[in-house]
Amino acid sequence: MPGSVTPSSLARLLGDWNLGAGPAYRELADVVRLLVLDGRIPLDMALPSERALAAALGLSRTTVTAAYARLREQGFLSTGQGSRARTCIPHQGSRGSHPDGASNLSGAPGLAVPAGILDLAYASLPASGEVVHRAFAAALTELPALLPGFGYDALGVGPLREAIAARYTASGVPTTAHQILVTSGAQHALNIILRTLAGRSDKVLVEHPSYPNALDAIRAAGCRPVPVAMPAASPDRQPGFGPGWDLAGIEAALRQQRPAMAYVVPDFHNPTGRLMSDPQRRALVRAAAASGTVLVVDETLRELNLDGAAATPVAAFSPAVVSIGSLSKSHWAGLRTGWIRAGEPLIQRFAAARSTMDLGGPVVEQLAAAHLVSALSEPLPARLAALRENRDILLALIADHLPTWQSERPAGGLSVWCRLPAPISTALAVIAPDFGIRLAAGPRFGLGGAFEHYVRVPFTLPPEQLETAVRALRSAQDRLSAAPQLRRNLSAAPAAAIA
Ligand SMILES: Cc1ncc(COP(=O)(O)O)c(C=O)c1O
Repeated sequence: MPGSVTPSSLARLLGDWNLGAGPAYRELADVVRLLVLDGRIPLDMALPSERALAAALGLSRTTVTAAYARLREQGFLSTGQGSRARTCIPHQGSRGSHPDGASNLSGAPGLAVPAGILDLAYASLPASGEVVHRAFAAALTELPALLPGFGYDALGVGPLREAIAARYTASGVPTTAHQILVTSGAQHALNIILRTLAGRSDKVLVEHPSYPNALDAIRAAGCRPVPVAMPAASPDRQPGFGPGWDLAGIEAALRQQRPAMAYVVPDFHNPTGRLMSDPQRRALVRAAAASGTVLVVDETLRELNLDGAAATPVAAFSPAVVSIGSLSKSHWAGLRTGWIRAGEPLIQRFAAARSTMDLGGPVVEQLAAAHLVSALSEPLPARLAALRENRDILLALIADHLPTWQSERPAGGLSVWCRLPAPISTALAVIAPDFGIRLAAGPRFGLGGAFEHYVRVPFTLPPEQLETAVRALRSAQDRLSAAPQLRRNLSAAPAAAIA
């Protein structure tokens, strides 16, 4: 059922929005737009009437009317006949939805990136084109053999499940095809797992910060996230495992809260890029077993290992671990191919739960994916070399142009998690488009409005665009520094005040 935002909730979310940096209607529209984009106001929410919001904010009705008109013009509000304005996002874009989550700021598809805007809100790469193309050509030649079948297969096509199982076996985790369920990406995999293992009100342990779409999926399943803070970055910018995870904190949370499930990204964690060490992996598995918690590890970014540090797959430490994988980062998110590895009885339960969502994946895509998984490392050297260079360029640009930022050197993945000198992340994201960039505010990666002090900066753009983007960040930060009122007012809108 679509909901509504009360005038007082919206006033709370808006905080001290009025910066005095431009016409009030424009600032009001800009802040509402950001709240919609980063998911703090969900889609299809009825906003208060113009009269009610004007009263709640102490504004003239004309100002609210003009702000709503601007939002309608930009495609962020729709109004049905005789009804209240509802939140939505523009649909006329060709870039499509943003896959990595931060980006899918609203959780809804079709958000266009205006021409000329550099998109730092998502961390994803174009396809390893030739490799993907070849895999599809091979898949088409294999298709006729499958056409006499019905085409439904909740577990996934055999050749792909075998290729994935062989890959696990080769990495030291003996696996059969019966232990693999093919999904439409890692996000789909997580939803299937949540549907199967976590009931409404069940607790799910998460790292804090974490991958935004995972947090959304956990909340959408009616579960209660139990956040455990990641330790702060050390300023030494050393490569390797970095400050890692707070295992004592995780163990205490598992012992005291006994969550049904724990969702962890140990391989180039999104957004910090950290890699969990083997001793921590072992301790994590042991602690989850002791509290009766199903440990779900998301290995979506595992192949993006920039420094070559070795870490054993978590499933090697226990057969009870549930692993999620995906081709989205190694090859292309457009493949929409991922998987779950677990014990066979659990895989059967996942397959049963899946049938409430879909009846299997498309066959040609899976046949192509089988080729890609069989030669998984083929596109990686070039991809990793470019990413390594981009990472180093981005870190150098940040050190040069934004010396008050503390950036953590990621061991892998696609982005740098930066600590800002002040809690200005939302404010930066609001004014970012004025400087030609789009940003995901830090609170998207946390719960309850946390991480106003942080921003995630991907290094997926080419070097010259990275330079433009960092210069734009500097200009945006300077604008905020020159207008402390602006900074204060745009920061820290609470996350949970929606009726
Ligand atoms: C940690 C993590 N899990 C899952 C996903 C989504 O993966 P997929 O495209 O396979 O659904 C992402 C994408 O950025 C991610 O970073």
